[in-house]
Amino acid sequence: MSFFRRIEWKGVKKSDEFLPVVRHRLGGRLDLIRTQAGGVSLPGGGSVKDFIARLPKAELHLHIEGTLEPELMFEMASRNRVHLPYQSPEQVRKAYEFSDLQSFLDIYYQGTRVLLHDRDFYDLAWAYLKKAHEQNVRHAEVFFDPQAHTERGIPIRAIIDGLDQAFQDGKRQFGISSKLILSFLRHLSGDHAMKTFQDALPFRNRFAGVGLDSSERDHPPEKFTSVFARAREEGLFVVAHAGEEGPPDYVWQALDALRASRIDHGVRCIEDPALVDRLRAERVPLTVCPLSNVKLRVFDAIENHNLRQLLSAGLCVTINSDDPAYFGGYINENFLAVHEAFDLTKDELCTLARNSFEAAFLPDSEKTRIFDELDELASS
Ligand code: ADE
Ligand code: ZN
Repeated sequence: MSFFRRIEWKGVKKSDEFLPVVRHRLGGRLDLIRTQAGGVSLPGGGSVKDFIARLPKAELHLHIEGTLEPELMFEMASRNRVHLPYQSPEQVRKAYEFSDLQSFLDIYYQGTRVLLHDRDFYDLAWAYLKKAHEQNVRHAEVFFDPQAHTERGIPIRAIIDGLDQAFQDGKRQFGISSKLILSFLRHLSGDHAMKTFQDALPFRNRFAGVGLDSSERDHPPEKFTSVFARAREEGLFVVAHAGEEGPPDYVWQALDALRASRIDHGVRCIEDPALVDRLRAERVPLTVCPLSNVKLRVFDAIENHNLRQLLSAGLCVTINSDDPAYFGGYINENFLAVHEAFDLTKDELCTLARNSFEAAFLPDSEKTRIFDELDELASS
């Protein structure tokens, strides 16, 4: 390991500025060499915030409907003549206090009512892509919830056309590759999911995977065994939310009944050592969303998140933003939050970024290219 790979930071928030303390570990001695407000100059790097910004990242757990910022919500409400029960974007933001997943979902589904036309889905995805580009996201695997829209009479074609066009433009303009994940709402029935899947089949070449989201409690993955089997027959990849609020048993079901190759959230796996062993042995990635977990009270504070335990258990953990417009941060803010809470080293930040590409449904050749880039950054 090179000398610079052993650099660590300690982040201290001071009046919105990041105050890093650079520590060099030399022969077991820990020497503070420099402290400087607003971003220290590291040999070959800037502040931790800059380092995170420079890391190439794959975002694997993002609900496109959860990127609807209040300003865009108002713009769409106005052009589509949809009434919002708020006077301003500021008032919307103030309403974002959640007691659990369900209290968030109630507001999240309300927000989706402004999305009516393919142009709205395009604008939504385009706004996310601009943000993703600013944050050096190179690849995104993005959920969309067709049932949240078809239930309101929106044709599935409008949803997929708008999203697909934006992500194609994102590839052309920003070089961001992407895959759409059609996600079933688990509070609806298995039959409803199957009907939705059949309606989506004419657009089969425009999405790459299926997922499972919405209210987890009392909605076990097993409810969706048939539709996931059907999706696998179509050659789609399979992921599922499990172990966010629901018990470890739901993670087992996602693996065994749905044959999910990646688990969204999964943080409650830690309650079941046999499950942790299985996830480690099979290297099943977890798409962890730290700011989401705090906002939805899965953990009462970021310092009490179990990220350290998941990493120490040898799991393939990735960092993601889930619903950034609602939870106060995109991917870089999630990285920074866990860095500050757990004193993550440069190596550990690189590992998290590396895991995101390992866990992505990308060809090995593209992964190798990014791994080389990450190695260079780590040793710079
Ligand atoms: N839909 C949007 N965000 C979600 C989350 N965190 N869990 C389950 N369903 C969701
Ligand atoms: Zn989610």
